Amino acid sequence: MEQNEEKEISGFSKLSKRDKIAWLAKNFLYANPVEIVKEFAEYWHDNVEAQKLLDGFSENTLTNFPVPFGIAPNFKINGKVYAVPMVIEESSVVAAASNAAKYWLTRGGFKATVLSTKKVGQVHFVYKGNRDKLFRFFNDQKETFKEDVKHLTANMEKRGGGVLDIELIDFTELEPDYYQLRAYFETVDSMGANFINSCLEEFGKQLREKVESSVIFNDSEKEVEIVMCILSNYTPECLVRAEVRCKVKELGTFDNGNMNAEEFARKFERAVNIARIDPYRATTHNKGIMNGIDAVVIATGNDFRAVEACVHTFACRDGVYRSLSQCEVKDGEFRFWLDVPIAVGTVGGLTSLHPLAKRSLELLGNPNAKTLMEIIACTGLAQNFAALRSLTTVGIQAGHMKMHLTNILASMQANDEEVSKAQTFFSDKVVSVAAVREFLEKLRSASFGSNLNLG
Ligand code: MEV
Repeated sequence: MEQNEEKEISGFSKLSKRDKIAWLAKNFLYANPVEIVKEFAEYWHDNVEAQKLLDGFSENTLTNFPVPFGIAPNFKINGKVYAVPMVIEESSVVAAASNAAKYWLTRGGFKATVLSTKKVGQVHFVYKGNRDKLFRFFNDQKETFKEDVKHLTANMEKRGGGVLDIELIDFTELEPDYYQLRAYFETVDSMGANFINSCLEEFGKQLREKVESSVIFNDSEKEVEIVMCILSNYTPECLVRAEVRCKVKELGTFDNGNMNAEEFARKFERAVNIARIDPYRATTHNKGIMNGIDAVVIATGNDFRAVEACVHTFACRDGVYRSLSQCEVKDGEFRFWLDVPIAVGTVGGLTSLHPLAKRSLELLGNPNAKTLMEIIACTGLAQNFAALRSLTTVGIQAGHMKMHLTNILASMQANDEEVSKAQTFFSDKVVSVAAVREFLEKLRSASFGSNLNLG
């Protein structure tokens, strides 16, 4: 029986990297610690300083977890061609983005516009006194709140950002005595999380102090309890639109000439409309968009969880979870677009600390945050276009399975000759783990060639 006591530890963080791994090997993997340390050490960076930097990003680090860093070239966005860096482990995603980018390259490319860049933060507090007095006090004092954070906002203001506005919101009908200060920020080229949170904590402190010293309130009304001060990852006004359009007849033909441009456009539009009305389909549809968005967000050292959280809230802003993209086929024109909130930065955070994030940004011409938002949104739209083009024509599996086959063969340690034979064999067959295993077993068996039925 497993001994739980052996799985508990205090001071794990203080152990050396090797000791952490050895302890885990002994108590969780039941394997030879020397072997396991060797295995984890294979992924350590050769350069000690580089490894130190990576270790510093997180805690209790054992090793690095490599994920492919790929490039989708030929992205023409607002007239400029980009080679877009993408970090993603899923096969077909970079290939799909590259295909879609090339397809639109000859049809005018992508257009993108940042519609707004507002960020949001909240001071959640409890106040049991008189509501009307609280609002009167807030309206009187509102501007002084902004003044009180000047020491925090001075640098941001020099760069064109700062606190845009603050409002007081009454939530007492939903939660007893609960109010909120909702503040709006412009953080220019930084994601701005630390800046926003620092301002919010100062607002919270000022709120308590100001209410306490205000003559508006009598003694029994002077208490504000701050519940928490934190930015909101829901930034519906940090919004970018990405779009492609062309004449329907310029779309070309599909499925080896079996589908004409008009048929494709109608079917594609239908597929998008389905994702507008059915949350089951919308979730998968949006997942495809996020394949592209996340990959660039990660490659540029930004916070993909923040982007994910925001995007999905945005997708159900009218109460139903819907597709983020829309399509219109009208007057002989095909138009496909995406409105998506993306709060990212090109300065601060990991963007300049992580050597590959820095390189990614350099590959993109060191964009400002708005241009990065545009590039990310276009990659999401490209991904969505590629997925829907496959789904509405030849189906998704044809392309997926080719890549899947490569992964399965790698997991079965196939050599170059076996890979090549498998690719030929499966070119017109359904790929599955079992089928590939069977193929390899036969190929590897001594009797291969005499009794293998390759037909
Ligand atoms: C797979 O990662 C993404 C797709 O399922 C997206 C879609 O269905 O639109 C192909």
